[in-house]
Amino acid sequence: MTDSPKKLRSRAWFERQDKMGFYYRSWLKNSGIPQDQFDGRPVIGICNTWSELTPCNSHFREIAEHVRRGVLDAGGFPLEFPVLSLGETMMRPTAMLYRNLASMDVEEAVRANPLDGVVLLMGCDKTTPALLMGAASVNLPTIGVSGGPMLRGYYEGRMVGSGTNTISMSEQLRAGSITLDQFHEAEAAMNRSHGHCMTMGTASTMACLVEALGVGMPGNAAIPAVDARRNVLAREAGRRIVTMVHEDVTLDRLLTREAFENAIRTTAAIGGSTNAVVHLLALARRVGVPLTLDDWDYLGRDVHCLVNLMPSGQYLMEDFFEAGGLPAVLQQLHQRGLLHGDAPTANGKTQAENIGNATNWRPEVIHSLDEPFKSDAGMAVLRGNLAPNGAIIKPSAASPHLLRHTGRAVVFPSIEDLHARINDESLEIDENSIMVLQNCGPKGYPGMAEVGNMPLPPKLLRKGITDLIRISDARMSGTAYGTVVLHVSPEASIGGPLALVHTGDLVRLDVPERALELLVDEDELARRRAAWKAPEPHADRGYVKLYLDHVTQAHEGADLDFLVGCSGARVPRDNH
Ligand code: FES
Repeated sequence: MTDSPKKLRSRAWFERQDKMGFYYRSWLKNSGIPQDQFDGRPVIGICNTWSELTPCNSHFREIAEHVRRGVLDAGGFPLEFPVLSLGETMMRPTAMLYRNLASMDVEEAVRANPLDGVVLLMGCDKTTPALLMGAASVNLPTIGVSGGPMLRGYYEGRMVGSGTNTISMSEQLRAGSITLDQFHEAEAAMNRSHGHCMTMGTASTMACLVEALGVGMPGNAAIPAVDARRNVLAREAGRRIVTMVHEDVTLDRLLTREAFENAIRTTAAIGGSTNAVVHLLALARRVGVPLTLDDWDYLGRDVHCLVNLMPSGQYLMEDFFEAGGLPAVLQQLHQRGLLHGDAPTANGKTQAENIGNATNWRPEVIHSLDEPFKSDAGMAVLRGNLAPNGAIIKPSAASPHLLRHTGRAVVFPSIEDLHARINDESLEIDENSIMVLQNCGPKGYPGMAEVGNMPLPPKLLRKGITDLIRISDARMSGTAYGTVVLHVSPEASIGGPLALVHTGDLVRLDVPERALELLVDEDELARRRAAWKAPEPHADRGYVKLYLDHVTQAHEGADLDFLVGCSGARVPRDNH
């Protein structure tokens, strides 16, 4: 019954009338699949990251059911399958260590099975890039469906946002300004519904980018997880993927250079997470789109942040949805020539067609480009002798008075050392100091953990100091804020210049000049380089060993070097 332009790959399994055809069909029939499902209709994989260990994705069985209905509506044959799920809050040392492993799981599961198209169910931070990366290396017709953000959190009459208020309340607890009981009550008040973090953290940023890249349906970014319209979107995605298979709209037809440019400018306009940088660099390398760290600086440089959401602002994703969601942002970018309106999207229309009727209903949440929430909100890419391959900072989350500053370094060689000393009242640190954290990069942590926004010393918090310059090779939670320099490359644990900083050295940060300099003469740096010893590797077997042997640096996306690129969807050899 297929009307696809080319033979569906699932036919290599299901059209066989022999012993193997018996295997392929018969075992599926044990779950009640009738014979007519094998008549040539597109087989759609529903790639599910549901897990009780990933609370942000705990409603995905229901979303998968709506995708399934959509696939059936359109005459497809849905088959749901699980892949490694990455729970940001639970996984140690960091979910990022496993992003590439999950992408391998997705890639191999999709290619090895009789699938013609895939719907990716994504929510918690790393699940989105992991699934997109894996799918990109196969390149079937693909639609991304995000799980949606949680409802607004409220505590003691105030709106509280995921992560952002976790950080502020943990600092209040350390400073003694709230009790442990209040702390526990706030935990329940913040996370009161299904969904992912409802600030403009990494999950919300990546959900916006699924839409901006054109891989998701319009509205994907902001519909709350528990709003019935999220289920409608899932059903429409299920219907649409069947058509995409018939039309052979493979993922590389959506993930073009123009799509990435749209995504980078969107990141600036929404005040999105710094984590988007490393994820989009990795994704672009999977599909062979040339994209560099410097693209982030020049493409985002003149884009203003329009969205007044935590952590930079005041509101939450539910407000963003009520205001009009991402289409109301994209429309403004398009009107100023900052969006490729002709970029194709998953629903078969162009970006310009999708945003044609977008309306901004709450200007206090989505500002205009004439009166932006924050000016010049793109990522700044810093270079200098401290970061020869680059480092990034999100100026819109930084303190303006620290964007141009020279200060004395206070160095922590590990996260354990930071935790051991940060509460020490005798620590020599003041508001002009620059905190430097080493050995937290892709190999160093391992997994480039979100520890770059180091906690401040209590003695400075009590003085009302709320920000210091912090520099590391780590990442930062998308829900965090501050004058935080991240992703320093090369990282300290492979002997990058960050490893050579000593307490007392002067460090110069100049964001307008894009400079990050260690003010130590070259002879002294050469002596330190000669004396530097590489830390012991974190593993000598298993996945972590594979990861350590092959992970690339932050400016290359921190992917495994052998995963870069696409192997395509060619049907593997038979298994007999
Ligand atoms: Fe899952 Fe924030 S912890 S999105």
